[in-house]
Amino acid sequence: MRTTYLLILLAVAILLMFGCKETTAYGEKKMSIQKQDFGKTSEAETVDLYTLTNANGLQAEIMTYGGIARSLQVPDRDGNFADIVLGHETLDEYIKGHPYFGATIGRYGNRIAKGKFTLNDVEYTLATNNGENHLHGGIKGFDKAVWNAEQMQTETSVGLKLTYRSCDGEEGYPGNLSCIVSYTLTNDNELKISYEAETDKATVINLTNHSYFNLAGHDSGDILGNELMLNADHFTPVDEGLIPTGEIKSVKGTPMDFTTATPIGSRIAQVKGGYDHNYVLNSSDGSLALAASVYEPKSGRVMEISTTQPGVQFYTGNFLDGSNKGKGTVYNKHSGFCLETQHFPDSPNKPQFPSVVLKPGEKYTHLTVHKFSVR
Ligand code: GLA
Repeated sequence: MRTTYLLILLAVAILLMFGCKETTAYGEKKMSIQKQDFGKTSEAETVDLYTLTNANGLQAEIMTYGGIARSLQVPDRDGNFADIVLGHETLDEYIKGHPYFGATIGRYGNRIAKGKFTLNDVEYTLATNNGENHLHGGIKGFDKAVWNAEQMQTETSVGLKLTYRSCDGEEGYPGNLSCIVSYTLTNDNELKISYEAETDKATVINLTNHSYFNLAGHDSGDILGNELMLNADHFTPVDEGLIPTGEIKSVKGTPMDFTTATPIGSRIAQVKGGYDHNYVLNSSDGSLALAASVYEPKSGRVMEISTTQPGVQFYTGNFLDGSNKGKGTVYNKHSGFCLETQHFPDSPNKPQFPSVVLKPGEKYTHLTVHKFSVR
């Protein structure tokens, strides 16, 4: 009897030591979080790559460099998996420079005109990195920071909590800003990205994720056949430098109208340069609401994006020109599309747009959910 108990105890101890360390089984398949060394930055900071796998085999790779989503494996209607986000093979390629593939963007997604804004009567000057304008947080934005990572696991999800402290004055922004970005992959086939931030001085903030998607597969050519629905009756027109004019314009009767599902390419030739516009979402009360839905007819893959944010930047990879060697492929114009859930570009200079000011004692929160299915 005693021997049997001892044997059971030993078996449990062995299971705890080896079985549950990195991989936990719930249901039929194994959910797991795997960590691998992905190299070092030029400042000798260690970069890790985490692979999150849910119980259905969906897989997301997240890097501590830039909080970048490097790959996302999702099944088609026949159960065949493909990587549906653009990215690079190695850390060196990311460090050499890339158009924000999969990156966490901060402190401010998209442009701030001339890199200037005034808050509480003080004019702040930000780093300019897009002609005369400030884009995606400046020269060294959050996409180039190495984030601290902590694994998260529940019975129904695997995730990674990334933290970064942006110092007062970084890229010209006021206030020490503590940020948390959490990626969670659930067994309902959702990739959730949640953001939190707190400051010790009034500042402006607009965090987002810059993944480029192609639901047919990142290496399958252009995205013009992906069908898009945007839950937005209005958009914010821009000037030559892609700065919003301040107008909120109806999409009705124009090639900007995606209120019913339409192939991305069907009217793109009528939009100078391709789509690179902020849409004003119909739901803007801060609750989680459907922003966009994309369907790719050949694979049957569907991605629905819900967000708490008031806007989404729809960008059709207009600046991709073949110079970025991706994961075993070359990305040309329109190889991917982005749906960056966000506040509107240049809001710090547009009092009529929803406020992006964060004050001490307040908490910035943002949740975006990508739900995958097939049709
Ligand atoms: C955003 C901008 C684009 C471009 C890309 C990055 O989507 O709106 O104009 O700068 O990022 O290349």
